[in-house]
Amino acid sequence: MQSSRRRFLSHSGMLIGAFGLAGKALADSCDFRPTAKQPLGPFYPVEFPTDSDIDLTRLAGSAVRATGDVMIIEGVVTDDMCKPIKGAIVEIWQACHTGRYNHPSDTSGTPLDPNFQYYGVMRTDDQGRYRFKTIKPGAYDASETWRRPPHIHFKVGLRGYRQLVTQSYWEGDGLNDKDLILMDLPLEERRKVVINFKDEIINGEKMGRGTFDMTLKKIP
Ligand SMILES: [Fe+2]
Repeated sequence: MQSSRRRFLSHSGMLIGAFGLAGKALADSCDFRPTAKQPLGPFYPVEFPTDSDIDLTRLAGSAVRATGDVMIIEGVVTDDMCKPIKGAIVEIWQACHTGRYNHPSDTSGTPLDPNFQYYGVMRTDDQGRYRFKTIKPGAYDASETWRRPPHIHFKVGLRGYRQLVTQSYWEGDGLNDKDLILMDLPLEERRKVVINFKDEIINGEKMGRGTFDMTLKKIP
């Protein structure tokens, strides 16, 4: 797993270039307060896929794109002095467009997308930037009375910083204000994890693009 992780991390810069998005300016405004933690949830991978690069819309060697709306989620990871953190490991995991996780604990019976890469990992660049290309996940039932809105799980860490486990959401989704995890956050913290995705055409492909900057607390 380590060797494959290294291999894909080394590809990350190339893929960012391929998206034609390199050179994005640092966050316009920086938040000194660490990003709010949210639960890891039951679906963090128990086994890491061989393909864990920053493009979740396509499996290595496959010509078939995953089903669903393509999204770019990107941002800057800073410390609580607003200094970009270089080399932070950013992991994401999520459901496919049907709302199904590729995880033994997901017993929903909802169909998996065989073309989706459910997990990705990269290191932030020297300006603290990360970026993933993915699919908007479907909503899913966490219980009989609780349907989770589309969201992406994040785990971000580097030695010397408190590890951050959190989730990001789609602005305007009708399930957001009923979600027990999102609504458990104070309003100000909630606003920072609900992301406004704007449609763009990148390399001839329509996709939503949203910025999710994260702040990690430095360990004194
Ligand atoms: Fe989830």
